[in-house]
Amino acid sequence: MANRHEILEKNSILLSVAILVVVAVGGLVEIVPLYYLKSTIEKVEGVRPYSPLELAGRNIYIREGCYNCHSQMIRPLRDEIERYGHFSLAAESMYDHPFQWGSKRTGPDLARIGGKYSDEWHREHLKAPRNLVPESVMPGYPFLATASLEVPNIKGHLETNAIVGVPYTADQIENAEADLAIQANPEADGVDAFLERYPKAVVRDFDGNPNEVTEMDALLAYLQMLGTLVDFSTYSYEDQANMR
Ligand code: HEC
Repeated sequence: MANRHEILEKNSILLSVAILVVVAVGGLVEIVPLYYLKSTIEKVEGVRPYSPLELAGRNIYIREGCYNCHSQMIRPLRDEIERYGHFSLAAESMYDHPFQWGSKRTGPDLARIGGKYSDEWHREHLKAPRNLVPESVMPGYPFLATASLEVPNIKGHLETNAIVGVPYTADQIENAEADLAIQANPEADGVDAFLERYPKAVVRDFDGNPNEVTEMDALLAYLQMLGTLVDFSTYSYEDQANMR
């Protein structure tokens, strides 16, 4: 056997061909099964499409380039799980167009930032990060609190997402415009119907200014829901270790 191996090792062309054959077999074994699976994303309870206000906030997140410094994907490694919580599931970003996994962490991962801080903390932090974290290199975004939220065609935005596979219902699309305002105003009529359309959505006057829906309202509606849809309380750390 060792002798025959010598034939391969002494003939570079034969070796190249042999490598190609081995890699091709390995590649096929990995790739071919994917063509026979309808979906590679496991369904997970609780994951729902973004509400109109969350979607608008997500657009501001993208517009301001927050993804340049923040990732939204917790890797299944012990140190990440201990710092950020349960590792990200594929289903958690299945309605993201475009996804915000990111590859750069100048600041911390934000996949589970929802509920970690109060709205007030976020407002102050976004206005002037160094007021709260003196060593922070994050830029301030003070204009968000005074910029009126302008979304010319939220209904069309939901419809476009529906075209690429986000399961928005006719009811959700029909009420998109109204829902945009309802989520920032807990006193509004229709909050109950809104919550039925978007379970677990946070309905609050996020920016502390009840007279106007601002870009701050939208961005906070988005940040405060990140990572809150799936109930991980039933998962234990051992489960996570076993899944690795
Ligand atoms: C230049 C890089 C940079 C950009 C751009 C940036 N951040 Fe940050 N961010 C940081 C750093 C560094 C920290 C950690 C220090 C701190 O808390 O300020 C941070 C912290 C945070 C935190 C607190 C996270 C935690 O778990 O404590 C939030 C929330 C946040 N950023 C949101 C945003 C949002 C929203 C945007 C876009 C509007 C944004 N950041 C843009 C660098 C950045």
